[in-house]
Amino acid sequence: MKPVMLSGDRPTGKLHLGHLVGSLQQRVRLQTTHQAYVMIADTQALTDHMHDPQLIQRAILDVAKDYLSVGINPEQTTIFLQSGIPELSELTCYFLNLVTLGRLARNPTVKTEMQQKGYRNAVVPAGFLCYPVSQAADITAFQANCVPAGDDQLPMIEQTNELVRRFNTLYQTSCLKECQLYPGTTGRLMGLDGQSKASKSLNNAIFLSDTPDVVQQKVMRMFTDPQHVRVNDPGHVAGNAVFAYLDAFCPDQTQVARFKEHYQKGGLGDTVLKQYLNDVLQQVLAPIRTIRSTLDDTTIISMLRMGTHHARSAASHTLQQVRDAMGIYSL
Ligand code: TRP
Repeated sequence: MKPVMLSGDRPTGKLHLGHLVGSLQQRVRLQTTHQAYVMIADTQALTDHMHDPQLIQRAILDVAKDYLSVGINPEQTTIFLQSGIPELSELTCYFLNLVTLGRLARNPTVKTEMQQKGYRNAVVPAGFLCYPVSQAADITAFQANCVPAGDDQLPMIEQTNELVRRFNTLYQTSCLKECQLYPGTTGRLMGLDGQSKASKSLNNAIFLSDTPDVVQQKVMRMFTDPQHVRVNDPGHVAGNAVFAYLDAFCPDQTQVARFKEHYQKGGLGDTVLKQYLNDVLQQVLAPIRTIRSTLDDTTIISMLRMGTHHARSAASHTLQQVRDAMGIYSL
């Protein structure tokens, strides 16, 4: 039997280059060697967008198109909608009894997000604090052992494995499986503004669906080295977004090494570099745009319907084992 891969994204907007190197490329590679599931986590998206369900509804189609355009292939990967699988909510419900409020509040990724969103302890929506538990249900319901995702998801994997061990020990079963993070190739992609993370909410990312013009404008405005004022001044490579993107996307790394040396010595202008980067990114994005232009909403929706149907039967198989292990009545 093939190992199982599961990963997903909250549909709160279009996916960007950070997602591409952080997990999409890994998913495309793994779909040939794994039983692959990719989930659009619309239920999880509600944990901080309860007031704006229309945004989620729109983003579901965008994210599904992003998946297909980067080469996630519905014939190899089951692409599905989280809300279409009530078994995931059921498993979440059982898991919630195996975790303490204290443990939930210690998850470092949740802590950071709470700070960003201004959720102080007493006013955080309970669903938000608990989303790592629902994520544990997503992963374990599919018996996934491999989770390709960014390193911010590591605390979720740890929490999942704690729940798996607690469940299996408590109910003397081995029906749930532990999992591992399969991290992206280049760590976290820097934002266009030099901030540590490219993110939709910081508005500092290049989206997979951006037009060539928009990509070019974004590249030309990228953060470089504020001390590199004149062309002949020596420049800094560390913290320079243009170099971070060349590292992540340029197929010719020898050329990148030459640029770095020249830039540090002085004499290489930002505009020349940015034009080069623009060419590199346009080449990365061209095939993605080509596939995207062939996709229409009706095809996407029927693909999601089929994927969700298939995923549901896999999840309900695990849930039957879970209920048996717990001694829940099947009437
Ligand atoms: N938390 C992930 C995100 O923020 C989405 C997600 C939900 C996920 N369930 C998952 C990722 C299971 C990996 C595995 O995008």
